[in-house]
Amino acid sequence: MTKAKTTYVCQECGVSSPKWIGRCPSCGKWNTYVEEVVIKKEKNRSNYNKLSKPVKINEIVSETTARIDLRSIELNRVLGGGMVKGSLVLLGGEPGIGKSTLILQLSLRLKGRRILYVSGEESLQQIKLRGERIGIKNDECILLSETLLENIMIHVDDIRPEFVVIDSIQTISTDRIESSPGSVSQIRECTNEILRYAKQNNTPFILIGHINKEGNLAGPKILEHIVDTVLQFEGDQNHYYRILRSIKNRFGSTSEIGIFEMQNTGLREVNNASELLISQSKENYSGTSVAATIEGNRAILIEVQALVSTAAYGTPQRSGTGFDLRRLNMLLAVLEKRARFKLSNKDVFLNLAGGVKVNDPAIDLGVLVAILSSDLNLSISKDYCFTGEVGLTGEIRAVSHIDQRISEAEKLGFSKIFISGYNKKGLDKRNYKISIEYVNKVEEVFNKLFR
Ligand code: TYD
Ligand code: MG
Repeated sequence: MTKAKTTYVCQECGVSSPKWIGRCPSCGKWNTYVEEVVIKKEKNRSNYNKLSKPVKINEIVSETTARIDLRSIELNRVLGGGMVKGSLVLLGGEPGIGKSTLILQLSLRLKGRRILYVSGEESLQQIKLRGERIGIKNDECILLSETLLENIMIHVDDIRPEFVVIDSIQTISTDRIESSPGSVSQIRECTNEILRYAKQNNTPFILIGHINKEGNLAGPKILEHIVDTVLQFEGDQNHYYRILRSIKNRFGSTSEIGIFEMQNTGLREVNNASELLISQSKENYSGTSVAATIEGNRAILIEVQALVSTAAYGTPQRSGTGFDLRRLNMLLAVLEKRARFKLSNKDVFLNLAGGVKVNDPAIDLGVLVAILSSDLNLSISKDYCFTGEVGLTGEIRAVSHIDQRISEAEKLGFSKIFISGYNKKGLDKRNYKISIEYVNKVEEVFNKLFR
């Protein structure tokens, strides 16, 4: 017996409606409804629906510690200490960013453990080629090229792997539903089916997902609700740094990040990002400074480069890579008003090393001194480091995690760090070998550095 039904499904948020609607009442997006034919076959689900039984909370044996060590400091960190058994991890990212590489590498690194890598996108030859490029051998890693969920599940049941990789969820479909692979109903149905299997058999799954042009996980937000953990792999295609961020994690914190570098033999873990993001040149150039920022829970020192030059034509240009342009304009206005710098007829270019993007406001002070340095053509000592948020009145505001920032600067051999005077409270200078300079106002920074 089959029931045929057509519904209109919002491709953004997954809400369905019996008729077409121009604007989704749930997510507010326009023109996102697509007609999908849903044929639900009455299926014998006895395999999956073993009758469950309610239990008292204190009778449940706690299994929170059952994690698989992924033998990767960065991946373990982001997942909160390894992959939890029976969990569903969704890994999202733009095409070509390195999702398949990251997961294949992980599967190969776990030597002697049975792992099933299902690919609906690439042929087995392609995956093998990539594996050869990565250069790790693991005879227990089993590859499967298949797109039908039912077939995949038969193999999973048969092989009983320690974990399963699905690359990607958008290419998988179930024959219980008649809409095309990648549509919201297919993704939802497949993920739910996988979830049911994962929980009942305590087998973790890693689902790879595409990102749409708006930068969200393609199709359904709904997928993010079903899975336990959502990781996002991001970075600039033209640079080699990749940041793995946890957006949702039922088994750990979401503030952790992992940093990788794309090389021609795969992804290399970067355990000390600061060393890479600071130039190794011994010379002092004007317009560069080093800022102590926090990404996730880690302190990272980043080199800031600014170039200020007289505008050749009409309206001066302002551009910033890795830094919010509105924030740059705000800092320039503060310099103009509070430190009496005439920058309104100057072009200002700003660049953060390595193509990283920084949202931490504590980078303000570093940006500000780099601009001053370039404008005055006076270099800042390579031994100085900066951290502080700049307010509209020109005051240097306190920032969070100050101890971590100072320690990182000390670890990398800086002799002095400039921080906000408001960070003084609770800070014991005697704990550090690095000298700490308190500044409260933009003018003060200027006087200390360039007078
Ligand atoms: P891939 O993992 O296929 O990306 P995704 O699955 O996210 O679409 O990675 C593709 C890019 O990575 C490709 O442009 C080539 C590059 N790459 C390297 O630079 N070195 C390597 O060792 C590998 C395997 C890929
Ligand atoms: Mg891929």
